[in-house]
Amino acid sequence: MIRKAVLPVAGLGTRMLPITKVVPKELLNIIDRPTIEYVVNEAIESGVSTLVFIISQGKGKIIDYFDIDMNLRSFLKERGKLDLLKKVEEVEDRIKHLIEVRQKIPEGLGHAVLMAERAVEKEPFAVLLGDDLVDADPPCLKQMIETYVELSAKISNHSIIAVEEVPIEDVSKYGIIDGERVAENLIKINKVIEKPLPEEAPTNFAIIGRYIFDPTIFEYLKKIPKVKGEYQLTDAIQLMIDDGYPVYAYLFEGKRFDTGNKEGFFKTILYYGIKDPQLKIVLEKFIKEEGIIED
Ligand code: UTP
Repeated sequence: MIRKAVLPVAGLGTRMLPITKVVPKELLNIIDRPTIEYVVNEAIESGVSTLVFIISQGKGKIIDYFDIDMNLRSFLKERGKLDLLKKVEEVEDRIKHLIEVRQKIPEGLGHAVLMAERAVEKEPFAVLLGDDLVDADPPCLKQMIETYVELSAKISNHSIIAVEEVPIEDVSKYGIIDGERVAENLIKINKVIEKPLPEEAPTNFAIIGRYIFDPTIFEYLKKIPKVKGEYQLTDAIQLMIDDGYPVYAYLFEGKRFDTGNKEGFFKTILYYGIKDPQLKIVLEKFIKEEGIIED
């Protein structure tokens, strides 16, 4: 039912400077693969077949990563490095249909999503932010697609946004939703507020980087004003709700990480490292034997 996913990766990644001068934050490594590979895997494991990458200058390496490198393949084959060849081929063969779209000026997430209009055409589609990781089984997007399909039996032209509860002091970092709970893990949204102050936030349900949109969102993305140099996706969502299009917040099951800042990136590496039983032992030994963390 959801065949296409848009991955906006055109942002400047200023919070991760200076490395992002030369390496896109989406290519920074989490243990043994770049951040974006986790996101791509989630989309593919959720049944999406076409991935639309929104890139900008300097971000072409993200596409190269998933593209076939014939020279490398021949080199590894000639040297008999078949294990490595298999690893490389797996990544290169993963995306069946890859579309690359340029966002020439980084004018915000709303603008980035609008760039996908032609590639998406007129069908519902997913959006996954390239620096947000969700460890979940089934994958977060898959949970959302299932909910989307269930809702389709009753309504049409609906959209779903993944949310999670955050500490109230953190609400000003997120888009916050308000609405009416219609099921244990589903809220029908009536209001979306971008980065409210804690005292102004109606809830602590924060929007994370996973969405399923009805294609009508594109019409609203064309209507919103630029605020402080950026077109906010949340502004378009609010307009869509005001016009009667149903938008739901989905409380997903899983653990989410924001790799786009120093603290979040560090936590992500620790989490995925500790998930690997061998690396967990390495870390425990290292901390104990080297006295890394003092009481
Ligand atoms: P962020 O705000 O987290 O990313 O946008 P950023 O702008 O790259 O980072 P900072 O704030 O400067 O550190 C969320 C996602 O939207 C994409 C980003 O690449 C990221 O995946 N994005 C953002 C775009 O594709 N285009 C934009 O104009 C802005």
